[in-house]
Amino acid sequence: MTKNPRILVVDDEESMCNFMEIMLRKEGYTVSTAQSGKAAVSLIEQENPDLVISDIMMPEMSGIDLLVETKKRHENLHFVVMTAFASVDSAVDALKRGADDYITKPFKVDEIKHVIKNLLENDQLRSENQKLKDELAGRFTLDKFIGNSEVVVRLKELVKQIASSDSAVLILGESGTGKDLIARAIHSHSRRCDQPFVAINCGAIPELLLESELFGHKKGSFTGAFKDKDGLFQAADKGILFLDEIGNLTISLQVKLLRVLESQEFTPVGSTVPVKADVRLVAATNADLEQDVKAGRFRADLYYRLNVLPVNLPALGQRRDDIILLANHFLAKLAFKHNCAPKTLDEDAESLIIAADWPGNVRELENTITRAFLLSKGSVIKTVDFPEKLRSSEPAEISPAPDTGNPTLESIEKAYIFWVLSQTNWQKTKAAKLLGIDASTLYRKIERYGLKKED
Ligand SMILES: Nc1ncnc2c1ncn2[C@@H]1O[C@H](COP(=O)(O)OP(=O)(O)OP(=O)(O)O)[C@@H](O)[C@H]1O
Ligand SMILES: [Mg+2]
Repeated sequence: MTKNPRILVVDDEESMCNFMEIMLRKEGYTVSTAQSGKAAVSLIEQENPDLVISDIMMPEMSGIDLLVETKKRHENLHFVVMTAFASVDSAVDALKRGADDYITKPFKVDEIKHVIKNLLENDQLRSENQKLKDELAGRFTLDKFIGNSEVVVRLKELVKQIASSDSAVLILGESGTGKDLIARAIHSHSRRCDQPFVAINCGAIPELLLESELFGHKKGSFTGAFKDKDGLFQAADKGILFLDEIGNLTISLQVKLLRVLESQEFTPVGSTVPVKADVRLVAATNADLEQDVKAGRFRADLYYRLNVLPVNLPALGQRRDDIILLANHFLAKLAFKHNCAPKTLDEDAESLIIAADWPGNVRELENTITRAFLLSKGSVIKTVDFPEKLRSSEPAEISPAPDTGNPTLESIEKAYIFWVLSQTNWQKTKAAKLLGIDASTLYRKIERYGLKKED
């Protein structure tokens, strides 16, 4: 869902406003209230809400008048009307005038939550679709790197900065953290974006072949070299060459690469004439290169040369806030691909994936979500649709928060959450319900406060 959507509740009855405000806040929305149509008009201008939910029967300006007035200026703003059971006619009138939906009073809380959630989720789907269109058009911008946790926001800023320089880049991160994605984003955001982006996986090809792939060869320089062939450095001229799994490069190729970095020239296999190359190098590895340098497997001079601008990608477990966002992104992608209605995760499934260990990081999450999508019956994905291994994994180890001494609001919250958890025997879904927060918020707080069952 969009981050904290903003809802405006309009009702001349104060108690109704209060009730709706409390109920919707609990759902994670940002809520404002207005007790007249006039007040609502100015709040809409000030706060630019995502959705308005308004009573129809109000003195002076009716909900219908408010609707008409609002739609003139904010055509895409969602508008839901509330009406007494007896006056369904006015609801029909509202729909004709552009309301998205209506609810009859007295209503069930679940009903109203459902109506709102559906409307706002459609918004997310629309923006996902835009992203997918970009993807199909081959645009690999940073927007495609999903995540809005603090680490990711900082990462994206860093990548933009780095992209605008012209020096070599080293991308470091565990398998599946998105190194490939970041390499392409660097290209899109760099001044070389209209020039080629050429990628090669250094781990997948034998040494001699790799050398000829990179630098090209002269006819007859080895068995099978029937004619002169350009290498990838030439193909990437003026653009970017992405060397994936650079840790697998042999020492002799490391030397040759260093030479290109230092002199911007190289010599094709079997040739003695150096060739100029204007290529920006982006390298990536999931190995610990520093360790490889110490062990003599990787040349220190090349390492320092590449490591001028390092980009460290966080493991998924270091940005659990993004797990649901990523999962929903993959679900939208799957629905788009299979041309079917979107599927959602139920609350327990969400809690499960937030807490799971993800050694394979985003790639593993994507594969797991794809599997669950295919296995699930109906439109809601449940914990049974996930592999047993995931279901039995314990939340990742977390270090306890430092004891600050003075009882702050936070320390009281921490103690209270711990108490509720012990009361529910650490059933987190139940505890979240009692605390009036959603499960993902509870997980975040458990992690933040370093709460553990055995404490
Ligand atoms: N932040 C992200 N947002 C969306 N998709 C992501 C993100 N990070 C990774 N992915 C997806 O996860 C998969 C793995 O990402 P990628 O290939 O970039 O990882 P990697 O770090 O290069 O892994 P490896 O070291 O195994 O090569 C891809 O399908 C990629 O699109
Ligand atoms: Mg990769």
